[in-house]
Amino acid sequence: MSEVAGLRVLVAGLGPMGRGIARVFARAGADVRVTDVSAELTEAGLAKIRAEATSDGETADGVRAADLTAVADTDLFVDAVLENMDVKRDLLEQVAKLAGPDLVVASNTSSLSIGEMGHAFGDPARVVGMHFFNPPTKMRLVEVVAGGGTGDAVVARARALVTELGKTPVVCRDSPNFIVNRICRPLYYEAQLLVTQGVEPGAVDAAVSGALGHPMGPLTLLDFTGLHTHLGSSETALREFGDPRYRPIPLARSLVRAGMTGRAAGRGFYDYAAEKPRQAIARLVRTPGEAADVRVVAAGPDAGKLPETTGGETITLYSCHRPPTADDVAAVAGAPGPVVVDSSDGNWLDVLPAGAGWIRLHRSPGEQLFAEVVHDELAGIRPPAFVGTALDVLGAASVEVLALPGLVVDRLAHCVINEACTVVEEGTASREDVDVALTLGMNHPRGPFDLLAAAGAAKVLASLRSMTDLFGDPRYRPAQLLRRQAAGAAR
Ligand SMILES: NC(=O)c1ccc[n+]([C@@H]2O[C@H](COP(=O)([O-])OP(=O)(O)OC[C@H]3O[C@@H](n4cnc5c(N)ncnc54)[C@H](O)[C@@H]3O)[C@@H](O)[C@H]2O)c1
Repeated sequence: MSEVAGLRVLVAGLGPMGRGIARVFARAGADVRVTDVSAELTEAGLAKIRAEATSDGETADGVRAADLTAVADTDLFVDAVLENMDVKRDLLEQVAKLAGPDLVVASNTSSLSIGEMGHAFGDPARVVGMHFFNPPTKMRLVEVVAGGGTGDAVVARARALVTELGKTPVVCRDSPNFIVNRICRPLYYEAQLLVTQGVEPGAVDAAVSGALGHPMGPLTLLDFTGLHTHLGSSETALREFGDPRYRPIPLARSLVRAGMTGRAAGRGFYDYAAEKPRQAIARLVRTPGEAADVRVVAAGPDAGKLPETTGGETITLYSCHRPPTADDVAAVAGAPGPVVVDSSDGNWLDVLPAGAGWIRLHRSPGEQLFAEVVHDELAGIRPPAFVGTALDVLGAASVEVLALPGLVVDRLAHCVINEACTVVEEGTASREDVDVALTLGMNHPRGPFDLLAAAGAAKVLASLRSMTDLFGDPRYRPAQLLRRQAAGAAR
């Protein structure tokens, strides 16, 4: 029997999320009513629902206006009101007085506690989180959040409903920021720290898009969603977890204070009047030129397969994805021809032989090669001309970065993997759901556990340990789950 067809749904709060959620239920055949704080706002919201449906080539004829008393003959109450616990608590207390004994409450909150709402409703077993992504009519992911007291049957029913709506559910325990927004925290923090440390925003975004295939770099995305929203959720994470790794980056705070909250304000990490992110990225990315008659040969402990190259002169690409040993340094210094070190390990800063180049070569999800090229005047590291020759021969696009631990891509990717391990370790979500959440919720081509499997736990662990050592900051502290997995793989 269909769960959605004929289901009596009341959606409260007709902001963009409530309007979209109402349409999603109506599309699937539910009997949908909507309500806002007043009859006028309810009618205005309904008019917007109809207009938005029309502009998407749909109708929303089945959606009707109501007031809160309609909850008496409702099966599912969807809270999409303002993100404020006092407002939600008052609303749920009223709903509890009007509702029948079988009503299920689904909240679309992005950050508030489902358990606390369950308590306000008076029957926590019937309150569940159904976190749709914006815009609900298009985004496929829904995080189903189980509060401390949510009944198993209600969680199972919420999952089934989401599937019937044509969406993909992932289940998450009640935990600040849930899955997607939690695991992306280090992506945003590290991107901002890189800017603080002197890397241009466009270089950060170019490296992330080029190497990891993210449709939008983290700083472009932060500017798009608004730095004030990000700062608010960072403060929530810090307060709720009490872990200094979640502390907001001072740069975000100073931009917000100055009103530079992102694209809508005309200024955030980018100055939109001067140069849009797309233009900055185009200026900073070097596309490969015509290939010279040169052979690039893979060497080192992590030598991988390179495209076939032929030619007289040989350039050695020495891959080493862990801290360099004396043997690595000797091998690079003693190689006969030009050598390019391929590593993101920050310890190379101290030992890179004069004359060697330094890059980190990535294979994007589309199998394109993309390189970060270390160019750091302060550290006396300038890419020799043969680095460009090697990249031309390999057909790799590239962007210049500073000699910071992890460079850009591994620093962000490994911190995201580490956060994903923490989320699984603490029981917030499963590995499978984490990967589904990040691929559908963020359009990342590969989820963190897929990336971990490709890199190997030992490599990611070594990288995080190097960063912990070189930055001296608990942000990079490896999850115990990662340590155990690396040890297990070694045994
Ligand atoms: N905007 C997003 O990208 C996004 C994404 C996922 C989840 N969410 C969550 O969804 C919820 C709604 O988000 P939004 O951006 O649509 O919100 P919004 O602030 O734009 O709109 C909230 C609406 O709720 C109405 N409202 C306030 N109190 C009410 C009450 N007591 N009864 C009925 N209506 C009331 C307001 O008049 C307004 O129309 C929030 O909990 C938010 O955190 C938002």
